[in-house]
Amino acid sequence: MKRPEPRDEEIILNRNKYIESQTDTKGIITDCNDYFAEISGYTKEELIGKAHNLIRHPDMPRIIFKLLWNRIQNGHNIIAVIKNLAKDGRYYWVFTHFEIIRDINTKEITGYRAYRKYVSKHITAVLTPLYKKLVELEKEGGMEASETYLNAFLKEKGEHITIDNLMEEIYRFY
Ligand SMILES: Cc1cc2nc3c(=O)[nH]c(=O)nc-3n(C[C@H](O)[C@H](O)[C@H](O)COP(=O)(O)O)c2cc1C
Repeated sequence: MKRPEPRDEEIILNRNKYIESQTDTKGIITDCNDYFAEISGYTKEELIGKAHNLIRHPDMPRIIFKLLWNRIQNGHNIIAVIKNLAKDGRYYWVFTHFEIIRDINTKEITGYRAYRKYVSKHITAVLTPLYKKLVELEKEGGMEASETYLNAFLKEKGEHITIDNLMEEIYRFY
């Protein structure tokens, strides 16, 4: 499937609805709700069986996904704010809770689940320039450069701030 051409137009989410999806351990979509299909512009049939990076937006830094995967593969839940790309090229921001799915008997990780909701403007206002800077650094110096910058950014915000709690902490800084 051809990648949509991004355009600078936002899709505003309904504050009372969640966008939900479930993946296997590799990030292949195994299930999703109707609201995911409605907002992304893809049908459920188009979404299920595809890699979740189908809706990856080029404005998202790679370091954020690296940190995200490190967390969930180690069995930790995480919250992340992500800018997504809809089928028609528009974008939508989501505040996402990631959860681990385990086999009830073996306790092994069998997949992941994500619940997403509306993000308030004061959060996207902070993250837009931060993500832009991280993407620029990645173009010049790869993920090492963006990781160094992100660590320095977090350190400046306070010793206790890590990427894991950055998204929650952002509410408190601004
Ligand atoms: C449950 C789950 C939900 C995900 N949701 C999104 C999402 O909404 N948007 C996104 O760009 N990536 C999402 N990802 C991450 C993608 O799998 C992928 O790592 C990311 O799009 C970066 O693409 P890349 O790994 O090909 O660089 C999700 C992963 C999992 C496990």
